[in-house]
Amino acid sequence: MKRIISPSLLAADFGNLKADCEMINASEAEWLHIDVMDGSFVPNISFGFPVLEAVRKHCTKMLDVHIMIVHPEKYVKRFAEAGAGMLTFHCEAAENPQEVIDLIRTEGIQVGISVNPDIPVSMLEPYVDKVDMVLLMSVYAGYGGQKFIEETYDRIAELREIMKSRNANCMIQIDGGVNPQNAQKLYEAGVNVLVAGSSVFNSANPVEAIHQLLNV
Ligand code: DX5
Ligand code: ZN
Repeated sequence: MKRIISPSLLAADFGNLKADCEMINASEAEWLHIDVMDGSFVPNISFGFPVLEAVRKHCTKMLDVHIMIVHPEKYVKRFAEAGAGMLTFHCEAAENPQEVIDLIRTEGIQVGISVNPDIPVSMLEPYVDKVDMVLLMSVYAGYGGQKFIEETYDRIAELREIMKSRNANCMIQIDGGVNPQNAQKLYEAGVNVLVAGSSVFNSANPVEAIHQLLNV
């Protein structure tokens, strides 16, 4: 499957988001990853619809929106209206994950489903053939700049087995602690979408950092 880099806006300069959007536009990143946190599903609060709408105006790439919120079903429509091209919710945050998938489909955008590192991958089994993408968290959702959890490789292998058994061919995204040192191993494990916050935005040359992640 084709490789895609989705830089995480969480690590951008919030005082100058337009400039960072323009950097993304000029880069090889196909998507821009947007982390929405509610202070309830995760301890941290990031930003919401007004920021998303502002970014939508300046960014020409697809907005890959990762919602770390309780009651995802309540907000699907608003995220779609605010410009999400992919909406990824946490399976463990939803009372009825299939309902959330159906709501996102109704909006005509792509559907992603995610789990934190302590949630069994088997929880995703009923959904792998119903979504466009599975996001396996490689850190605990809530903060940028954390260290990549090595057990993620075993979880990717487990997910691929489940996908095979269900004849599913969704994209696999990894989020948290991704850098040029682990990107190659992740591609080899079968991942095709890499989210990268600090390793892109803290780099002296973010456009080059994106190029490197794509071409390791
Ligand atoms: C964490 C977020 C990530 C985060 C990644 O809850 O979902 O997208 O921004 O940041 P880095 O790449 O710095 O680990
Ligand atoms: Zn994320």
